[in-house]
Amino acid sequence: MGSGQWMVEKRSGLENDSFLKEHETPSESGCLSIIVLGASGDLAKKKTFPALYHLYRQGFLHPDEVHIFGYARTRISDDELRDRIRGYLGKEAEVVSKFLQLIKYVSGSYDTEDGFQLLDKEISQHEVSKNSAEGSSRRLFYLALPPSVYPTVCRMIRKCCMNKSDHGGWTRIVIEKPFGKDLESAENLSAHIGELFEEAQLFRIDHYLGKELVQNLLVLRFANRFFLPLWNRDNISNVQIVFRENFGTEGRGGYFDEYGIIRDIIQNHLLQILCLVAMEKPVSLKPEYIRDEKVKVLQSVLPIRDEDVVLGQYEGYRDDPTVPDQSNTPTFATVVLRIHNERWEGVPFILKAGKALNSSKAEIRVQFKDVPGDIFKCQKQGRNEFVIRLQPSEAMYMKLTVKQPGLEMSTVQSELDLSYMQRYQGVPIPEAYERLILDTIRGDQQHFVRRDELKAAWEIFTPLLHRIDNGEIKPKEYQPGSRGPVEADELLAKAGYVQTHGYIWIPPTL
Ligand code: NDP
Ligand code: BG6
Repeated sequence: MGSGQWMVEKRSGLENDSFLKEHETPSESGCLSIIVLGASGDLAKKKTFPALYHLYRQGFLHPDEVHIFGYARTRISDDELRDRIRGYLGKEAEVVSKFLQLIKYVSGSYDTEDGFQLLDKEISQHEVSKNSAEGSSRRLFYLALPPSVYPTVCRMIRKCCMNKSDHGGWTRIVIEKPFGKDLESAENLSAHIGELFEEAQLFRIDHYLGKELVQNLLVLRFANRFFLPLWNRDNISNVQIVFRENFGTEGRGGYFDEYGIIRDIIQNHLLQILCLVAMEKPVSLKPEYIRDEKVKVLQSVLPIRDEDVVLGQYEGYRDDPTVPDQSNTPTFATVVLRIHNERWEGVPFILKAGKALNSSKAEIRVQFKDVPGDIFKCQKQGRNEFVIRLQPSEAMYMKLTVKQPGLEMSTVQSELDLSYMQRYQGVPIPEAYERLILDTIRGDQQHFVRRDELKAAWEIFTPLLHRIDNGEIKPKEYQPGSRGPVEADELLAKAGYVQTHGYIWIPPTL
């Protein structure tokens, strides 16, 4: 059996689902080179190489066909790179060292041809040594680099490192966010890269799209009769999409200050989730149909009003030596978006993200309207909410009112709880990067951001971002370890969110 077939077969074994198999990309074979550009960096070490390791360990990257290359300017040997990443991989020493042997490091600059010619030579040598059937090589370039170098690096890849086979194969480019800083810069970047590569070769990664519960959203919404009649303005009062981190920008202050929380989290991760929560049912699961529906949602978002925004900056943020003393960059933001369409008119979508807060979590909170004719006088106890906890402790729970057990007829808030740790004991939840790299190898773009989607996302936020950049809107100071500025809670209440007091969902433990 050819190793390419082997990979597809492995997948079939995992997914005993004929419907999904129907949507599988055609079998692709040939030698696979994965090239991590920026291999000396933080993302490569913490996310990219570990994701590749886990794919390898699970049999998705076969040593007979795969070789991994690291490329960066830093002058280190193969072994030095291996030592840098070893500690981030896993505990199975033998598997780790076999995986590390697949990695070769090439040092070179990002803007001259020499390094890329050397890289191409190394890849070609590997292809010749491994490629049984002449040609049909696959080259996956992962840009774990600062966005400032994307244009030159893409030009160099195009010039020096493309798959040269006449017998099939491909060259694909994975680009990390941020894709630009505003509409104009993103469009320039897209135009530049678009001249070099076809859209089908470009995989703009938003790792939130690889998270288990984000991937579950479409199944949940469109495979369950429960939700179909409820998921609209008649029943839903408001939707919150929340990201919180209980640590600051430690170690990334320089990068962060240039971007801020809206560009770092809201314009991409949270907005992508909003699309999946709000979009209409696609014609089928074909990636283009799904992305078409996401674009429609984005195009229906109304311009953001100043009164629908609260910005914050945590006290001490500017003490970071890489952050300017006068920085106006928000480390916290609540932004209320409104979707002008038949399903969502009048329903606020509250996007909230912050660093250095009192907890770390990401969740979607769909709050339903009050029950009309409240004969139990239980409205004060709280509304029905459907909560999707993306992390930590992946779960979906439905907050609802029940009779308090006992002789009295009184009511209490409780929940129907699908906690993954309990329900799917022992089933490992893959890392987002693992899935997305595998999707790239398979050529499945469903969970990647299309060019028009990116443009629509920047159209929503660019006017607000420019006002912040010009210092026209100032962030409020908040204490590290707090909930963020109090004004954010006031905005939440103004948008119609009714907080339940005295009820806390506690993730079950085993
Ligand atoms: P790093 O700052 O660690 O940069 C990666 C590598 O790029 C460095 O090791 C360095 O390699 C090279 N590099 C750094 N600065 C420059 C520069 N000014 N010009 C040319 N080369 C440079 O970045 P990260 O690994 O943190 O991030 C990479 C990409 O991934 C970025 O786009 C980032 O926004 C994105 N990202 C990062 C996340 C993270 O957790 N780190 C999370 C999500 C996205 P050398 O000097 O050896 O060439
Ligand atoms: C990245 C942001 O995209 O996502 C970081 O640049 C943030 O600032 C990170 O910490 C959060 O990712 P996760 O998967 O840990 O929630």
